[in-house]
Amino acid sequence: MHASEREALLAADRRHLWRPYTSSDDHESMEPLTVVRAEGPYLITDTGERVLDGSGAWWCNNLGHGHPRLRRALVQQAETLMHCSMAGTLHEAATRLAQELSEVAPAGLTRVFYSDDGSTSVEVGLKMAFQYWQQNGRPERKRFLALPAAYHGDTFGAMSVGGVEAFHGVFESLFFEVFRPPSPAPGESFEPVIDALCRELERAEGEIAGVIVEPMIQGAAGMRVWPAELLRRLYEATRRADTFLIADEVFTGFGRTGPMWASDHANVAPDILCSAKGLSGGVLPFAATLATERVFDGFRGGKQRALMHGHTFFGNPLGAAIAREVLAIYREEKILEHAAERARELAAGFAEMAEIPGVRRARSLGMVAALDLGEDGYLGEAGWRVQREARARGVQLRPLGDTVYVVPPLNIQRGELASLLRATHDSVASALSQA
Ligand SMILES: Cc1ncc(COP(=O)(O)O)c(C=O)c1O
Repeated sequence: MHASEREALLAADRRHLWRPYTSSDDHESMEPLTVVRAEGPYLITDTGERVLDGSGAWWCNNLGHGHPRLRRALVQQAETLMHCSMAGTLHEAATRLAQELSEVAPAGLTRVFYSDDGSTSVEVGLKMAFQYWQQNGRPERKRFLALPAAYHGDTFGAMSVGGVEAFHGVFESLFFEVFRPPSPAPGESFEPVIDALCRELERAEGEIAGVIVEPMIQGAAGMRVWPAELLRRLYEATRRADTFLIADEVFTGFGRTGPMWASDHANVAPDILCSAKGLSGGVLPFAATLATERVFDGFRGGKQRALMHGHTFFGNPLGAAIAREVLAIYREEKILEHAAERARELAAGFAEMAEIPGVRRARSLGMVAALDLGEDGYLGEAGWRVQREARARGVQLRPLGDTVYVVPPLNIQRGELASLLRATHDSVASALSQA
């Protein structure tokens, strides 16, 4: 691309685009990368620069960009069927995917409901739980319990059970009521949170439609890791209260934290599980909400007992064909085994970065690692300074304010990961030495 073409494109972008989570002023002053191709962990710009994508295309790019098998699956599916509604029809891609997902899901999740993205998979999960109790003799079960500083997406139901004030505080007067214990300070134990949720489950058992969690790690809250024992304890409390545990595995699913599902760390079988990012192969918007036979059985009967939810692109054949290929690649290319080795290198690299003067905390879980550089959370500036430094070192990072993290593809090669770690280390050291 000629420099003049790039300038024209940038001008059109500034004039007409509206970026997510970017103020209008920031949009107009930013210098975005002009990406013309992407392969593996690299974004390739119009000038031919290969930039390491440290945030995995907003955490969905588990198999790297442009995986040849995903390209082929997309083209092959596009040649025969690109879309048809699933009202009164079936097609192989969506049906076989439902079967294959059930086979790899935590025990008992045998029913698959499709939607378009992580937020809608959460909406579906909440609606399944709520409507279930409404029409199965427990209409007083209306409330949801959630973790503090949770992030479940940007639609209204997902925002209501979310709790990151910086993202959603402005909409709060429109939310439904959710019980959410106070947040622990950064780096402090989640035990009081889980204790409070368990107490509420016992106290108000008859009122609770479900408990929703991001198992093991809260992504948008700043990559906050919480222990498997506490997840297990919460799960057991939901069993005693006979209410639903909804696992939002939009981020954590597909091996991001080590095992296929973060729920597996605690040997927990949720009643409802939301999946999107890894499932999509980072290719097309595609999501699924999995549920047990018990939940599904709660929707038997006449038309008025159907789950009152559905999207135009439900079970889209392109998205489904890609997701099937994603599962095949996980099986055949032994993605989880490969990632386990890389995860050790990632953990070691971030443990080393904890020693950089000014770094407050470091942590990692599977193929996610993060550093806190300050205490101002999402509105902090430290991460943005690191982002600028990283950009100069050929790495694209997307900080969460004072938290810098990397979410590389699970199939990243050793040398590529080493480059990402080196550049992140040097960017953090340089940004902090100027502070
Ligand atoms: C745990 C979790 N749930 C839901 C979502 C929303 O997904 P989407 O952006 O695809 O709507 C995200 C996105 O980051 C997430 O991390």
